[in-house]
Amino acid sequence: MGKKLVSTGRGGTGKTTFTTLASRFLPPPMFLIDLDPDQSLAEMLGINLKNEGIRTVSEALYDVITARRDGTGGTMSVQDRIEFMLNSQCLYEGRNFDLFVLGTKLTEGCYCAPDAIVSGAIPKVINSYQYVMIDSPAGLEHLNREVVTDIDDLFVIIDPSSKSLKHIERIKDITAAIGITYNHFYLVGNFRFNEEAKKRLQDTGEIYLGNIAYDPQLAQYNLSGKSLLDLPVDSPACASVKEILTKAGLIKQ
Ligand SMILES: Nc1ncnc2c1ncn2[C@@H]1O[C@H](COP(=O)(O)OP(=O)(O)OP(=O)(O)O)[C@@H](O)[C@H]1O
Ligand SMILES: [Mg+2]
Repeated sequence: MGKKLVSTGRGGTGKTTFTTLASRFLPPPMFLIDLDPDQSLAEMLGINLKNEGIRTVSEALYDVITARRDGTGGTMSVQDRIEFMLNSQCLYEGRNFDLFVLGTKLTEGCYCAPDAIVSGAIPKVINSYQYVMIDSPAGLEHLNREVVTDIDDLFVIIDPSSKSLKHIERIKDITAAIGITYNHFYLVGNFRFNEEAKKRLQDTGEIYLGNIAYDPQLAQYNLSGKSLLDLPVDSPACASVKEILTKAGLIKQ
């Protein structure tokens, strides 16, 4: 059974960067899920979904809803049609990983329907992958959406601020209140980290795996839209992520 990993934290801390770089080191096959409406994971991975002919789950769902409304959906049941679209149009199949992007909702209301599709898809595919890794949107709201309720490793990316420290407690409270479980709760310091912030994290009593080093080349790659998969493997950010995954026991040095 594949392990479920989740990258979460406050806005702009480096969640997507962590997910992208983790995909370089975790052994394949891996399934990446982008839950952020902002859809930056594909970009950091260097994938142009449009050019690849891949649609987001929300786009596919919108088409199914529209076809049903217009009576152009054919004889296939809505459920079968969604399943067909997920497999044929929404799944990006790469060399080391496959990717699903939730996308921006195109209909009124909440993300309940696309969330339910993704959470329903995970148990069906989990045995085909060694790892399923979810890149979360900023904040805590996504936890309420309960896309995964039994996480193996929850990585909380922290910036050096008292808000981030409070965020740790709030994640624990919310997950407990809504019944999300995890085997490990890991803190990861972000690229703005310093010694004082590190000490404060260690004082929380949670497992602190280290921080992701500031990497000017990574910042440059993001600015120019280059894939982070092409960063030199010994660049500061890559080396830190490798060390963090090693400490989490997910890879061997
Ligand atoms: N190790 C690093 N070195 C230098 N810059 C970094 C590093 N990690 C992240 N950044 C920069 O920080 C910014 C935010 O990173 P990222 O998009 O990964 O954060 P996020 O938490 O996913 O943001 P959001 O909340 O918007 O989803 C990016 O511009 C990225 O280039
Ligand atoms: Mg992000």
